[in-house]
Amino acid sequence: MTQLPRAWIEDIGEYEGQDVELRGWLDNRRSSGKLHFLQVRDGTGVIQCVVFKGDVSPEVFDVTDHLPQESSLKVRGTVRRDERSPIGYEIGVKDVEVVQKAAPDYPLGHKEHGIAFLMDHRHLWLRSNRQRVVMAVRHTIIKAIRDYFDDRGFRLVDAPIFTPNACEGTSTLFEVPYFDLGKAYLTQSGQLYGEAAAMAYGKIYTFGPTFRAEKSKTRRHLTEFWMVEPEVAFMELEEDMDLAEDFLVHIVQRVLERHERDLERVLERDVSKLRAVQKPFPRITYDEAVKVLQAAGNPIEWGEDFGGDEETILCSQYDRPVMVHRYPAELKAFYFKHDPLDPRLALGVDVLAPEGYGEIIGGGQREDDYDTLVRRLEEHNLPKDAFSWYLDLRKWGSVPHSGFGLGVERTVAWMCGLHHVRETIPWPRMMERLTP
Ligand code: 4AD
Ligand code: MG
Repeated sequence: MTQLPRAWIEDIGEYEGQDVELRGWLDNRRSSGKLHFLQVRDGTGVIQCVVFKGDVSPEVFDVTDHLPQESSLKVRGTVRRDERSPIGYEIGVKDVEVVQKAAPDYPLGHKEHGIAFLMDHRHLWLRSNRQRVVMAVRHTIIKAIRDYFDDRGFRLVDAPIFTPNACEGTSTLFEVPYFDLGKAYLTQSGQLYGEAAAMAYGKIYTFGPTFRAEKSKTRRHLTEFWMVEPEVAFMELEEDMDLAEDFLVHIVQRVLERHERDLERVLERDVSKLRAVQKPFPRITYDEAVKVLQAAGNPIEWGEDFGGDEETILCSQYDRPVMVHRYPAELKAFYFKHDPLDPRLALGVDVLAPEGYGEIIGGGQREDDYDTLVRRLEEHNLPKDAFSWYLDLRKWGSVPHSGFGLGVERTVAWMCGLHHVRETIPWPRMMERLTP
């Protein structure tokens, strides 16, 4: 047989009427008399391959009646248009070459499985069509994030993962032994390094894994998650919110352009909810947010932080992300600049995604005055020595500056309409999970 072009399922329409070779795995099969229907996946999609007794050798007809799920295959045949197919095409099979006949007992067969079982088999679960779509959306989000900043002249600056000090509070630090220097901490955020880089290059972003020893088993918390953090010199809180808003609209648009069909068909996502994500986003103060919550019957008092329940109520009031700004400074990290008009407040903003997803962005304006920052470190019981380099930024050419951090996994959960962040990263790490 002459060499056939290797076709990927996502591009199969380009080969209509032609013979191709697919390389993939058997996802499912059924038979009726002279026909076997093989559902074959190749990582880019699933396609039905129809084996008609009259078109193939007796050996091929026999073997395709007995193959276990996840057997690896090369399928050769003709690409045919088919209106009933979810992808619009099927393969009329001429030949099947079995690369490996799978063991008969694939644990993730086509029945309902509990979440713990799926998580234990994450290495196999990733093969499912649903996980394929989630990972594709994750990839698109990461690419859209990079493109957004790259196209606007932001310099990518990688922050270290081993760090000597806390950024987001000392209660969620992971300690690692570090040679003669004692201990290091896994980074909670690249922000402090981002600030140094913004003073060097004007507008920057850091993007990498971050770690929090969060003792919370919620649907929003991982111990290892990816965060992108832009930081811009000479930028104040209002512009920071403008940036966050423009950035989010860009990401949502890109996801819709690439994945609208899969979101609807595979994940059953109501994409009209994503289409509604347009500028401007509502901007409310913490004060106003407390009133909204109280009016909704929530017992919160001024000065208390929002937990998952409060976020859920708040963000459900709007059809697009809501920006809550000017929280009580006591609730926030040491680095926030306080509002000159009301020093009890931090010039910070949280962006809450709609439909109950809650906080996906946290950010704000940084304290840029040396003496004030020294005082803040003391108030937060943070060691001045470990922060001496950070204080240096306030000695030489200090300027107002701001930025934010977007959590990739919470963003994926929101876009895909997933209940829990554990499905948004290939290998989730949580308090009670370190494997596979
Ligand atoms: O609000 P956070 O803690 O802000 C910072 O880390 C700032 N240093 C960012 C900055 O201003 N440069 O975290 C930012 C975002 C959250 O809004 C959330 O999306 C995500 O990071 N995040 C988590 N995602 C998953 N699991 C966790 N445990 C997370 N903690 C934060
Ligand atoms: Mg936050």
